[in-house]
Amino acid sequence: MKIKTENLQDTKNLANAFASSLCKKGLFVTLTGDIGAGKTQFIRYVLEFLKVDKKITSPSFVILNEYKCELFPIYHFDLYRLEEKGLNSIIPELRQYSKDNALTFIEWAQFAHDEIPKSSLRINVEYDEDNVDVRWFEFIDTENKNEAFLKELAKRIKS
Ligand SMILES: Nc1ncnc2c1ncn2[C@@H]1O[C@H](COP(=O)(O)OP(=O)(O)O)[C@@H](O)[C@H]1O
Ligand SMILES: [Mg+2]
Repeated sequence: MKIKTENLQDTKNLANAFASSLCKKGLFVTLTGDIGAGKTQFIRYVLEFLKVDKKITSPSFVILNEYKCELFPIYHFDLYRLEEKGLNSIIPELRQYSKDNALTFIEWAQFAHDEIPKSSLRINVEYDEDNVDVRWFEFIDTENKNEAFLKELAKRIKS
């Protein structure tokens, strides 16, 4: 499923639909796409909607930010600055959070190789060639493990 957002408000609406489609089990989400595509912005809107209890910053320098909301713990990884050695230091967290009932976001998940569960939902964010405010958010369910979630999301986007 590929969704076009024309501006920040559209991305916010998409993030709200995403957040309200989540169930108590949470979701393991990987995000790919160039720098500045809108990965962090999307996550920020999701966390705003879920009313998390900590300031929402980009974890680029800290690798992992943790938040709480009523439903589940939330983990936001940004692996962009991780060297191979650094990755080893967060593997226990990656493994644990993929098993927990949690909402986990991983930016630059391609740097974590085999530590990402295959059933995760991937969001690929792309620029539009013609308009700087336009972005494309593609939701990719590689192993078809998140069909119910995507069906709910599609319903909420339409309404
Ligand atoms: N439609 C849009 N959706 C998301 N971000 C947008 C959009 N239009 C412009 N932007 C801007 O693009 C930038 C995206 O930055 P960021 O989310 O940090 O990117 P990434 O995390 O992918 O590197 C932000 O400055 C945001 O304001
Ligand atoms: Mg980012």
